[in-house]
Amino acid sequence: MEEFKNKAIDFVKSNKKAVIAVGALATLAALKLHFRGGVCRADKNLEKKVVVITGGNSGIGKVTVETLAKKGCTVIFGARDEAKSEAVVKRIRAIDPDCQILYFPLDLADKRSIEEFSERVKEVCDCVNILINNAGVYATERR
Ligand SMILES: NC(=O)c1ccc[n+]([C@@H]2O[C@H](COP(=O)([O-])OP(=O)(O)OC[C@H]3O[C@@H](n4cnc5c(N)ncnc54)[C@H](OP(=O)(O)O)[C@@H]3O)[C@@H](O)[C@H]2O)c1
Repeated sequence: MEEFKNKAIDFVKSNKKAVIAVGALATLAALKLHFRGGVCRADKNLEKKVVVITGGNSGIGKVTVETLAKKGCTVIFGARDEAKSEAVVKRIRAIDPDCQILYFPLDLADKRSIEEFSERVKEVCDCVNILINNAGVYATERR
């Protein structure tokens, strides 16, 4: 074991530049993977499924909206900030003009807004295949 350790130290000492280069490349690869974010590997056919998702204009909801729209789903999402939401719709339509994506205003803290959202969903589709209740609060401490 000691012999192996000494050989490893000698190798590093005599190949300093190469070791640094390999380390730097590994760090860059790890950073690239980290900042690329998660990748959806699910291969289930979701084409034409109707998905309703709350909070689709940022964070996890936004990524979910984009992923499901790319998979051929009809995605309907709700959130409060209209400008931010319309920007999400515009961005996805710019990538795929045929994608089925709709935004309706929704404030989950307002019962009337929830009812209006539901009515608008009912106007555009007969059934909802997938409901994703994404918007909400994740509290780690009791408030
Ligand atoms: N990120 C994490 O590490 C993590 C970990 C565990 C659980 N979660 C849970 O995962 C969900 C999404 O997290 P996130 O980090 O992606 O959050 P986020 O980036 O803050 O997004 C929250 C989304 O919900 C919408 N929203 C907030 N209040 C709303 C309301 N009253 N009515 C309608 N829409 C509302 C926001 O849009 P508007 O502001 O425009 O309404 C936004 O689109 C949350 O339920 C969170 O608790 C997240």
